[in-house]
Amino acid sequence: MNNTLQNKRILIVGGSSGIGLAVAKQACKAGGKLIIASRNAAEKYEDLITAVGHGIEAHSFDVASEKQTAAALKKIGEIDHLVITSRPQITPALFVETDIKQAKEAFETKFWGQYQLIQKAHSHIRQNGSIVMTTGIAGEKIFKNFSTMTIINSATETFCRLLAMELAPIRVNVVSPGFVSPKPLEVEQYAEQFPAGRLASPDEVADAYIYLMKNSYTTGRSVVIDGGAMLI
Ligand SMILES: NC(=O)c1ccc[n+]([C@@H]2O[C@H](COP(=O)([O-])OP(=O)(O)OC[C@H]3O[C@@H](n4cnc5c(N)ncnc54)[C@H](OP(=O)(O)O)[C@@H]3O)[C@@H](O)[C@H]2O)c1
Repeated sequence: MNNTLQNKRILIVGGSSGIGLAVAKQACKAGGKLIIASRNAAEKYEDLITAVGHGIEAHSFDVASEKQTAAALKKIGEIDHLVITSRPQITPALFVETDIKQAKEAFETKFWGQYQLIQKAHSHIRQNGSIVMTTGIAGEKIFKNFSTMTIINSATETFCRLLAMELAPIRVNVVSPGFVSPKPLEVEQYAEQFPAGRLASPDEVADAYIYLMKNSYTTGRSVVIDGGAMLI
């Protein structure tokens, strides 16, 4: 059985740019009722309507703040699907040169942000609903300079499998992107060595979130969209 997204309430935290925005556009085209959240989503409401379409809701909150998250969820109410694509600020650096404060802040946003958001939001999810988190290929393949994302992403993959057991029948999955455009030239040159020979577009990655929301028999899994990065 495939769930349709028609009239489904889909909350995308991190939906105001990049991959999350691409998911919002595709989900809206599929008939979903979009609720876009990020620290500044409400302030970007007019731009979001232009990009995604009419009938969307926008809420501003910081996923790292339990208080703000709880208040926003109270206003949002029931949802069918929760998608999380919020991205922390990280400057790539070798482990020995990593700024520990920045690494901890990245954990607060990406790992603990997803953790506490799901703890608060799971009771808002209706029957046949799902959660899709975001990791990244650095959680599986080791790249120098990406130690913080490596540990956050691999912790998130394990967390996904645990949640798929504990929150069932809510399905819980992750999308693991490779390198997505736009990116600095040095990363783009790196992606040119992958079998796909280029960066992914946000739309190509967004397809995976749509699939995971719609497919009613997939849970506890990671869908990797990496252009073959794992093969080199
Ligand atoms: N792009 C890549 O190459 C790539 C590769 C692998 C994995 N990923 C993962 O894919 C996800 C999306 O990445 P992206 O490149 O699409 O990111 P992006 O374009 O930078 O967008 C990030 C989104 O997160 C929101 N956000 C940031 N901090 C937040 C916070 N504390 N609370 C609530 N919202 C917050 C931002 O909006 P506000 O500024 O309004 O808060 C924005 O909507 C991330 O988990 C990232 O780690 C990306």
